[in-house]
Amino acid sequence: MSKLTIENIKEKKGKEKIVILTCYDYSFAKALDEAGLDMVMVGDSMANVVLGLGQTLEISFQEMLSHTKAVARATQNTFVIADMPYESCHNGASRAFKDARAFIRAGAGAVKVEWFRGCQSIIKKLIQNNIPVMGHVGLTPQTAHLLGGFKVQGKDKKSALNMIKQSKTLEKLGVFSLVLECVPSQLSKFITESVSIPTIGIGAGKFCDGQVLVLYDVLGLYRKISPRFVRRYGDFFSETKKIALNFVADIKKDNFPGEKESFLMAEQEWDDLSSSFMCP
Ligand code: KIV
Repeated sequence: MSKLTIENIKEKKGKEKIVILTCYDYSFAKALDEAGLDMVMVGDSMANVVLGLGQTLEISFQEMLSHTKAVARATQNTFVIADMPYESCHNGASRAFKDARAFIRAGAGAVKVEWFRGCQSIIKKLIQNNIPVMGHVGLTPQTAHLLGGFKVQGKDKKSALNMIKQSKTLEKLGVFSLVLECVPSQLSKFITESVSIPTIGIGAGKFCDGQVLVLYDVLGLYRKISPRFVRRYGDFFSETKKIALNFVADIKKDNFPGEKESFLMAEQEWDDLSSSFMCP
């Protein structure tokens, strides 16, 4: 297997569903790489699920960059997308370009930029400089305060038309794919059929060209909130707790470490050493 190219990803539209999970570190990235996902996304959701912060806009570029490097180090087969944090996108096009270039140098194949008023100039600058960009419309967490909070977007005619317009604008600017977050199924179907690039849904129903979810939600590891659109495939929170309890019990009862988990000096060496302790 080898990593997909931007062209390979675009060609999947209407033919084969695209599968993406977020990922933030080397060890999980190794497992996802072997599982044959199309892409992994170093999402700024790391702010919530890894760092325990309240809002994604609190995560820094440097934090995103070092985790992108860790994920890229582990992925031989899987295309890596780095999420541009708030800091990188809201300080002008030159800053956005500098940060996006650093993500690409770190091993990402593309960056993702959330829609906000004025994002066009930034996206244009990146694409003109050969940095592939994934767009993101609907619920855009970095500017959720302007959208009435974390809720489904495009539920009325005005906001639905606005989202269609944003999607078309991004397509024209040249993004290679488009995340639709928390969007009613009828609207995401319409947008998917109206643009030539793949749409990637998260809480946007089954008609998108692909799906993305947050890894820690899928694993059942992050429990603070549980969005309706998430499907849990495991209970890593309980599993981790069980393992930690077993570890504690083993140590308290002197069951760990055992002989297998310990090192021994050669008998002769130890005899030599202990006899020297005994002589005054
Ligand atoms: O940060 C994130 O996790 C995202 C989602 C679209 C998966 O942006």
